[in-house]
Amino acid sequence: MNSRSEIVVETRGLSMHFGGVVAVDQVDFSLHEKELRCLIGPNGAGKSTFFKCLTGQLKPTYGDVVIRDLNVNRAHSHEIAGLGVGIKTQVPNVFEGLTVHENIWLSARRWHDAKRARSLVEDTIERVRLGDIRRHTVNELSHGQRQWVELGMVIAAEPWLVLLDEPAAGMTHDEVQLTVELIKEINRTATLIVVEHDMQFVRQIAEMVTVFHRGQILIEDTMDVVSADRTVRDVYLGHKHQ
Ligand SMILES: Nc1ncnc2c1ncn2[C@@H]1O[C@H](COP(=O)(O)OP(=O)(O)O)[C@@H](O)[C@H]1O
Ligand SMILES: [Mg+2]
Repeated sequence: MNSRSEIVVETRGLSMHFGGVVAVDQVDFSLHEKELRCLIGPNGAGKSTFFKCLTGQLKPTYGDVVIRDLNVNRAHSHEIAGLGVGIKTQVPNVFEGLTVHENIWLSARRWHDAKRARSLVEDTIERVRLGDIRRHTVNELSHGQRQWVELGMVIAAEPWLVLLDEPAAGMTHDEVQLTVELIKEINRTATLIVVEHDMQFVRQIAEMVTVFHRGQILIEDTMDVVSADRTVRDVYLGHKHQ
């Protein structure tokens, strides 16, 4: 990470309340261009809520979200996607009755003319390694394959910023390894934020890690420092601490 490169995502005093529950609590966060940042933390720490404030799925109670100098606080998800941001949420977002090829085609065609979309689809299907099953409908696929279809839909739009919430959730060991490779490859051309609960997965991809706990940033550092941190271990093991 180069600290002099441009900040492309920033939050200031970002808070999200659900009634009395403070899911995200005055978070100041910034991300530089071409970073691959992992957001980790135990269940209920506020990762997905923070993520949804960035993607426009939730409107923050307080504070600001700025993407490339644009305050996107009141923006809808489709407006954020229109800025060139690729989003994969925790809830699957594929067309079950359509084929792998058709799903990726629809995503590519949404942002590009037919000629460019055709070449992007071929490229993408190869990158997500779904060539053999391109004519299968999504409802025939394994859980891991469906996740890749979704990643393919994100890639096919050629986003400069990619936001992924638990991309490896529920995958087998081999599928996780392929996902690690894919995410590193995406990072060659795009800035990424990856929300992930699994530390083993994060260890393989992350440089800088932001740890959430009780809606706040507990620590932000390299994976080596974070995984050696006593407080982080306690939080993951569910110990009480002050
Ligand atoms: N839509 C919602 N309504 C009420 N409470 C919510 C909602 N979404 C999340 N929460 C609460 O906010 C807190 C953070 O949740 P979440 O962001 O999903 O955590 P994580 O993704 O880190 O597991 C939890 O206490 C959760 O129960
Ligand atoms: Mg979550």
